[in-house]
Order: sequence, then structure tokens, then C-alpha cells
Amino acid sequence: MYNIKKITKDLIWVGANDRRIALFEGVYHAPQGVSYNSYLLMDDKTVLLDTVDKAVTHQFMENIENSLGGRNLDYLIINHMEPDHCAEIPTILQKYPTVKIVCNAKIQAMIGQFFDFEIPQEQYLIVKEGDVLNTGKHNLTFIMAPMVHWPEVMVTYDSTDKILFSADAFGSFGAIDGNIFADEVDWENRYLDEARRYYTNIVGKYGPQVQMLLKKASGVEINMVCPLHGYVWRKDLDKFIDKYQKWSTYTPEINSVLIAYASVYGGTQNAAEILASKLAELGVKDIKMFDVSVTHSSYVVSDAFKYSHIVFASTTYNNGIFVEMENLLHDIVAHNLQNRKFAVIENGSWAPQAGRLMTELLSQLKNNEFIGAGISIKSAVKSDKIEEIENLAKAIVDTMK
Ligand code: FEO
Repeated sequence: MYNIKKITKDLIWVGANDRRIALFEGVYHAPQGVSYNSYLLMDDKTVLLDTVDKAVTHQFMENIENSLGGRNLDYLIINHMEPDHCAEIPTILQKYPTVKIVCNAKIQAMIGQFFDFEIPQEQYLIVKEGDVLNTGKHNLTFIMAPMVHWPEVMVTYDSTDKILFSADAFGSFGAIDGNIFADEVDWENRYLDEARRYYTNIVGKYGPQVQMLLKKASGVEINMVCPLHGYVWRKDLDKFIDKYQKWSTYTPEINSVLIAYASVYGGTQNAAEILASKLAELGVKDIKMFDVSVTHSSYVVSDAFKYSHIVFASTTYNNGIFVEMENLLHDIVAHNLQNRKFAVIENGSWAPQAGRLMTELLSQLKNNEFIGAGISIKSAVKSDKIEEIENLAKAIVDTMK
């Protein structure tokens, strides 16, 4: 049975939720599920903005059929060719064979890469920056947004109702639980962390490109933002834009310490815990710790974008960095993290190496600073190391003032 949500007089959400997804993009846990948003504009012409993932085909097609109420589908706008949004292009073409495909040239090329069928050239409306499609009452302007999150991405602006269809931007992990508008839920408590984890892991590497999109978007009046995942924004968008400004410029949200440790028999954890206690004694609030062996790196990457100071503590393993810590550090380097203060703690029972190797990895990132030369532990923390840990805590706090 269809399940749709009215957004405006002319606009309907025809997407669907997947709460059983094991791994989004084959990598990311999505414990609150994920929504695949698709929007149907009912004007003189009917316009579908993006499709959905193949996991929700049936619900999606029922939603469209019901919403169209017997009308034909005139246009399919494709803003992003990642399969979580484009998987149903073939199904749409099968059901509505005369639909005009509205996309840019890069998207057209990707359609050929992903699918085997040929779409005649005359069935395409190829658009570029600033082109406008009139659908009756509505004027839809196309704005290119390369690398937010793939190179072909564009966003669509409805200048009649002042709605930005923002593709992956302003999206979030988490299914839509009944309500469709962010102002109808306790978004900050229930979704902000998942929105940060979504942004930082999916788009975090492309801060300058996100900045370009924010700049373009600031030039138009926006009453509503309709992303491809998560809730629709019609109020208080400033608070989400403020987060996007911080995340895309690699500016920490809070002045505090994140400690990520990898420990085999507890010695490294003990050092990390003692450091956390010393920081707390010195007045640092909201310290956060992760055992990287049990927490997926996407959560640590997300908090690495939030915190100003990050301490990495790892045992030496196979003469290198402990495997889960090494994965995390590669992930952080891949996401281009900047403007942070780092410190490292290593452990090793006979030939400690992890500190030097972690520092080398993190040194690939720009605009960060290391606090101290690192602490080296042999097997377990002994009383002679307490002073060093205390000094590291003091040095960290000194840089927070
Ligand atoms: Fe939700 Fe980049 O796809």
C-alpha cells in the first residue's frame, strides 16, 4: 500500500525507509535505518526528483502511482547517480516510457555506465549551471555541485516555492519516523550525531566543494531544503548550516579531548584512562573515549570532526600500529581532517613503534599540530610514567586556553 507525505500543496514525498539495512555503502552501520527520499512535483507537468535504492522499489512505485492519480510522469530529474538514488531509473522508464530525463552531461555518461539500455538522445534534457525548466507554475533552476558527493552531482532550486533539492547535502542517517519535517522531531538529540556521522564519512573529504555549494546557496532565498536522506527542513535551517560551515572548514565544534585507543591486554587502555582522569581533574569537560577495537571507525571519524584535541593511543602489533587503529588513522587521513591538536601514546613490550608510525601517518594531514613528543610505555603503566601523563594532560590544557 502507498505511503506518501505531503510537503507543500504541489510537492509530495514518495520515498521509503530501510530499517533492516546492514551496512550503508557496504561500510557504515545504520542502527536507526536510512531513508531514501524522492519528491514528486505535481504541476502542469509532473516531475519526479531522483529515485531510490533498490531495497525499497515496491513501496516507491506504489507511492508514485498513487500520487500521480492516473497522470503520466513528464520529467525525471536526476541530481545524483549513486545507486541509492538512481537504482529505479529503469523501473521508471519501464512504467513511464515517455518520461523526459533531465540531467547534466556527466550524469548522462554515468547512466550509460550503470545500465545496459539505451535512452534516445531526444528523451534527454541536458542541463548546465543556471538552466531553468518551467513546469507550469514552477521554475526549476539547476545548480552544479561537483563532489558533494560525486563529480556529477547537481542540486535543483524551485524558485517559485523557494525549495532547494539538495541531493546528499543536509542528509542524515536515520529513517524518517512518521514526521517529515525536522522541526517536528527532537532533531538535535535524536539525529544530529547521525547527521554528523553521515556528513563527515560520506562528504567530509570534500570540504572546499561543500563550501562552494554553501556560497551558491547563500545567494538565493531558501524556505525549505529537501535532501535525499533524512528530514525536510523548513525552520531553523541556520543551525544546520552552522554545522555545515564548521564541518566543511574543518573547524572543531567543541574545545575538548577525544581519546581513541587500541589495547590488547589493557596496558594501553590504562594509560588512556589515566590521561582522561588527569584531563578531567584539570577541568576539561565532555571528554570522549573510544576503544577502536569495538567501535566502528565511522563513529570515531565523526567525533574527530567535532573535537578540537585528539589523542591516539596504540599498542605495537606485528612491528606496526595495531590493526584497528591503523584502519582508523587511514580513514581519518582519507577524510582530510585539519585544524586539530594531536597527541600520541604508544605501547610495546620489546620494540615500541606505534607512536612514530602514528605520527608519520597523521603528518600527511595539513594544518594540525602535535602536542609533545609522545609517551612510550613498556607493557604497563608504571609510577615513573604518571608524571609524563600528567605533563601531557597539562600541555593539552595549555593549548585549550
Ligand atoms: Fe545518498 Fe551519494 O548518495
